[in-house]
Amino acid sequence: MTPDEHCDGLCEICQLRPVADEPATPSRVVAESAAMREVLRRTAAIAAAAASVVILGESGTGKEVIARTLHANGPRAGKAFVAVNVAALPAELLESELFGHARGAFTGAVGARAGLFEEADGGTLFLDEIAEMPLALQAKLLRALQSGEVRRVGESRAARVDVRVICATHQDLAQAVAERRFREDVYYRLKVFTLRVPPLRERRADVLPLVRMFLERAGHSGRMTPAAERALLAHRWPGNVRELANAALHGAVLAGAAEVDVGHLPDDVLDPAPAPVDGPLRTLAEVEREHVRRVLDACGGRQADAARILGIGRTTLWRKLRED
Ligand SMILES: Nc1ncnc2c1ncn2[C@@H]1O[C@H](COP(=O)(O)OP(=O)(O)OP(=O)(O)O)[C@@H](O)[C@H]1O
Ligand SMILES: [Mg+2]
Repeated sequence: MTPDEHCDGLCEICQLRPVADEPATPSRVVAESAAMREVLRRTAAIAAAAASVVILGESGTGKEVIARTLHANGPRAGKAFVAVNVAALPAELLESELFGHARGAFTGAVGARAGLFEEADGGTLFLDEIAEMPLALQAKLLRALQSGEVRRVGESRAARVDVRVICATHQDLAQAVAERRFREDVYYRLKVFTLRVPPLRERRADVLPLVRMFLERAGHSGRMTPAAERALLAHRWPGNVRELANAALHGAVLAGAAEVDVGHLPDDVLDPAPAPVDGPLRTLAEVEREHVRRVLDACGGRQADAARILGIGRTTLWRKLRED
């Protein structure tokens, strides 16, 4: 399948090709918030470069989505994108997984095997949870990055590979360097470019468009009641987009053919918002003005969404905004 068969052209904002996260489930990168649009702008700008990228962000924010978008929009798009979770394997296994092994290199190595570096030749190697990489292996990674050569475990000859390395972590990598858990030389070699994917609570304008996309992907119409939209916008989303995707699936299944209502959402999404801090006593008009602005911001400036959530007509909203 060519990339064009599963997307509707380039995004008009960032000129990026919407990427399929898995070949079977076409998806778009949702980016309605200014913060996420900025991330995509930077992604577009560095997609064609050959240097390494470090993607930072809390768990579930979409770091792998950005890594795949980088790959899909660069010159390596037609070649392999190989992803490996560094934290998922013990050190010895990780070494042979990344670099391969010679026949008889260790007990159980019945045949020779190429590693993921060789598999990704010409393409991209995505090292997820890079902060978890054991120090000894970091040294071997540095050699591979500097020389463009990899040596299989138990093999004396090295093989040349042409691989772009993209890493991700939810940890503070600079802190890991300060604590000597991560090598400084590897850190600087990797972070030629850094992309920071903001947590969902800092880009609320993405919440409703993401929920709609996930609902539609689950075969639902994407329609929600204003109460459900309010609950979704008020939640803090500690699990970020992954938590939101699960909440949408929950909603789609329980709602069936009906609109998604609050009762269809997972219980923890309905947790009451923290009590507002005490402030100066303000007039009703001031409070209303500020509240209208807040809701409009949370809806990414979409007046139709904001009016529904506020429980007023679009004309009324328009009038209130004009009074500002
Ligand atoms: N902007 C987005 N548009 C569409 N889908 C998204 C977006 N961001 C994240 N997703 C979806 O949310 C889920 C989590 O994203 P992803 O796996 O990229 O997060 P992550 O930051 O790598 O998480 P972790 O730190 O747990 O590995 C995936 O199903 C992904 O497809
Ligand atoms: Mg990930």
